[in-house]
Amino acid sequence: MITPFPIQGLQPIASGKFRLVYEHPENRDLLIKVIRPEMIAKRWGSGMPWYKRRRRMKQYALFVREINEFVATCADNGKAPAFAQKITGFIETDLGLGLITEAARDREGNLAPPMKKLLAERQFDDEARAALDRFIEALLESNIVVADMHSGNLVYAHNETEGNHFVLIDGIGATTLIPTKVWSRRLNLASKRSKISKLLNTVAKYS
Ligand SMILES: Nc1ncnc2c1ncn2[C@@H]1O[C@H](COP(=O)(O)OP(=O)(O)OP(=O)(O)O)[C@@H](O)[C@H]1O
Ligand SMILES: [Mg+2]
Repeated sequence: MITPFPIQGLQPIASGKFRLVYEHPENRDLLIKVIRPEMIAKRWGSGMPWYKRRRRMKQYALFVREINEFVATCADNGKAPAFAQKITGFIETDLGLGLITEAARDREGNLAPPMKKLLAERQFDDEARAALDRFIEALLESNIVVADMHSGNLVYAHNETEGNHFVLIDGIGATTLIPTKVWSRRLNLASKRSKISKLLNTVAKYS
């Protein structure tokens, strides 16, 4: 019998607005992402309005959105794109369903730092800028739909095949009820261009 994987006693490496992120205790190439228990109670607990109750995925809608987009992008490219976090599976934990993803790491093997941190610490150098340009090119070439792309959702990673590169670790998929960006390549491109321009404005503020 498979019992829920115990992560409750572990120290999360990051706690975002919705999620707690843990390093997989048995495999440092992987992370486990769970939905924050207090968020589940607040947003999807017994006080949830009846019309929302009908959305059966509840707190896991976030996972479903990401997975749908990841799978669609893999189908489109024939493989997982290097610029997006790789999703490798699910695990049942003592904090509910956990999404397993590949841990993006830097050259030293530490968790890849968010672009936000590089900017704040004035470490966003020419090499990072070139990596960002490559990320933007790949993003525009791909049919991927992006909901939320800010400097906290991009991490600066290193591996043998890609060298230094940015990885989008959160925020993929369509958030609207009517997924116009999925249907229209033109609308999707326009939306990505606008997100890129906001991101470049953030970069410009620090240079
Ligand atoms: N695949 C990954 N590789 C390396 N670090 C990661 C990865 N995924 C997440 N992180 C780290 O964990 C943080 C939070 O992750 P994530 O964005 O998935 O959670 P979240 O709850 O959606 O956060 P927020 O609401 O703040 O956007 C990231 O900012 C990043 O520092
Ligand atoms: Mg995030």
